[in-house]
Amino acid sequence: MLEGLTALVTAGPTYEPIDPVRYLGNYSSGKQGIAIAIALRNAGAKVTLVHGPIDNVELEDITSIAVTTADEMLEYCNSLLPVDIAVCTAAVCDWKPQSIANSKLKKQLGQDKLTLELVLNPDILKIIATHPNNRPKYVVGFAAETDDLIPNAQEKLKRKQCDMILANAITQTSTPFGNDMNQVSLVTKDGVIAWPRMSKKEIAEKLVQEISKHLTH
Ligand code: CTP
Repeated sequence: MLEGLTALVTAGPTYEPIDPVRYLGNYSSGKQGIAIAIALRNAGAKVTLVHGPIDNVELEDITSIAVTTADEMLEYCNSLLPVDIAVCTAAVCDWKPQSIANSKLKKQLGQDKLTLELVLNPDILKIIATHPNNRPKYVVGFAAETDDLIPNAQEKLKRKQCDMILANAITQTSTPFGNDMNQVSLVTKDGVIAWPRMSKKEIAEKLVQEISKHLTH
């Protein structure tokens, strides 16, 4: 289906160091991104997976690049362009500490509060999708939302100039983080299609079929 095409997948969390022993991070397991990388490879694409700190990323015939921070993830992604397909599943930390302490932050006597100054991280998906001369032919992002799932996903589709957003609801009883199952809605400029709950592997395979419709005829 995708023979001769190249694909870049981002996956997992990023960790943003605070001091030599602490970081800001999140619960992303990278499972959906790994499943998509495998499905793209099985469809014939040459795949590079740029992933944050996660386990089990030795994948046959997939180049895996391990990074820690959002800045490193962006640097590797940029170095891989041009590619035909980009799928950004990484749960990139939106914020990073403005400065990283060289020594462990110690509690001072009587201190009961700590304020961290955070600055915005680069939006890797947006940078790839709006790249002036190396924009991939098809760019997919995710939107993980607790509220107003579809309007937020549609807003992200436009703002980040993607071809497709997979909208992922996060509720008190159902979270995609670490789970083998997931429920997504496909959001494109043509409309919204809610897929039933299924395994991340099945979502990945259906997604690759959708992508290939736009790249192979
Ligand atoms: N993303 C990215 N770089 C960032 C933030 C997000 O590449 N710095 C990508 C994610 O990989 C995902 C999409 O953008 O494909 C949406 O991520 P999400 O966390 O849902 O949205 P944010 O842009 O972070 O917006 P907000 O946190 O305000 O919902």
